[in-house]
Amino acid sequence: MRKKNIVVVGFQWGDEGKGKIVDLLAKDADIVARYQGGNNAGHTVVSGDLSLVFRLVPSGILNDKKICILGNGVVIDPMVLLEELNTLREIGINIKDRFFISYKSHIIMPYHKRLDIARERLRGAGMIGTTGRGIGPTYEDKVARLGIRVADLFDRDLLYEKIALSLKEKNYLFKNILGEEVFNPDDLIEKYLEYGTKIKEFLIDSSSYINKKLEDGLNIMLEGAQGTFLDVDHGTYPYVTSSNTVAGSALSGVGLGPTKIDEVIGITKAYTTRVGEGYFPTELKGKAGSLIRDKGEEFGSVTGRPRRCGWFDINLIKEAKRLNGATGMVITKLDVLSGLEKINICTGYMLNGSVIDHLPYSVADYKKIIPVYKEMPGWEGEISNIKSFNDLPVNSRKYILKIEELTGLPVNIISVGKERTQTITLKSIF
Ligand code: GDP
Ligand code: IMO
Ligand code: MG
Repeated sequence: MRKKNIVVVGFQWGDEGKGKIVDLLAKDADIVARYQGGNNAGHTVVSGDLSLVFRLVPSGILNDKKICILGNGVVIDPMVLLEELNTLREIGINIKDRFFISYKSHIIMPYHKRLDIARERLRGAGMIGTTGRGIGPTYEDKVARLGIRVADLFDRDLLYEKIALSLKEKNYLFKNILGEEVFNPDDLIEKYLEYGTKIKEFLIDSSSYINKKLEDGLNIMLEGAQGTFLDVDHGTYPYVTSSNTVAGSALSGVGLGPTKIDEVIGITKAYTTRVGEGYFPTELKGKAGSLIRDKGEEFGSVTGRPRRCGWFDINLIKEAKRLNGATGMVITKLDVLSGLEKINICTGYMLNGSVIDHLPYSVADYKKIIPVYKEMPGWEGEISNIKSFNDLPVNSRKYILKIEELTGLPVNIISVGKERTQTITLKSIF
């Protein structure tokens, strides 16, 4: 029987613990590939004294000999990537012949970053709360057919022409609307040609490479960035990122066909967090929110911003299950809830006097909904070193089983701490 190919996707608004889980599961995957997003992601992997936050490199890289790929759907800031690769080399991780980048990935340019930040300023109170890494403008240029792709970094004339074309409109905006300095292609060209030289050894066609490896009997895990509700189509628009984050986009993001995928695993926290602006029905604004924030160390791994915290939301997870065609889920950070007297699960929303079991479709309705909660009794004690489900406090088991029942999705793994070993496996994924 051939080995399984899986997609791992965030089920909420990002930061669900994808890094930890991908690192954990990578022992059973030959290839780990990112398919969208860029260095707006921050995926934390903790191994002993080592704590690394990956922005671009797939979280499987610490597993010896595994192949890691940035697919065509990823947007790459070469400076950030080279820094990340240097850090890996410094700690003795060999990346030669096992780290690759698609020729077709788009490059984040300095003007994308400037545009991202200036636009946020222009929006004022209506800001998205982006990471300021230039993600949105880079995807805009891709769709507008103005993007610079990795493959373009090797021909001076072509690169110059492409940068100049992309800057035509942007320089007008910078000068006349945004009050920013303009860019001159002459100031960018050398640096980006040099980046090309530095990353040349890693370049592949991710589609032909991966498909060939699968034919040879290897398997793949596709690592999502962000989360389902940051998806540009299905998320809480307009407070979303600029890529499709759902499992469907994993295929186009590396160049694989849908028939190759066997499982889709959603990662969710045992509660909910969100960083940046936008709707968040179960947000806890008072003391309970800061209690979870402090205990869960809920501060952005990219920007350091405090994450907004709230109760677990069944509507969100049911919708994520459907949008991703998920076959199972991983619940992380259960340990963070220990010590709370009562824990709420949001089972639906009240809208105009009736309960709805889905997310609202309009911005106006988001403002009106009132979450309906089911109160569950909490549990005491440190659970981070528990290795088996049956050894967990009875109320924490009831909490997990209730989530399983209300979402109709099996829980494969429960994470009870940052470390690989702080994990309880209920049903194996591969
Ligand atoms: P990602 O973006 O989905 O990879 O998640 P982040 O790395 O941005 O944020 C998750 C944070 O929670 C990281 O600091 C992890 O080290 C940490 N973490 C992951 N799983 C657990 C867990 O089960 N318990 C605790 N206490 N922390 C965890
Ligand atoms: P990982 O992969 C959490 C959020 C930003 C902002 C919105 C748009 O670590 O889970 P962008 O810079 O993408 O244009 O910002 O999306 N955001 C994330 N939130 N985790 C992430 O990634 C995120 N990447 C983007 O805070 O609200
Ligand atoms: Mg993160």
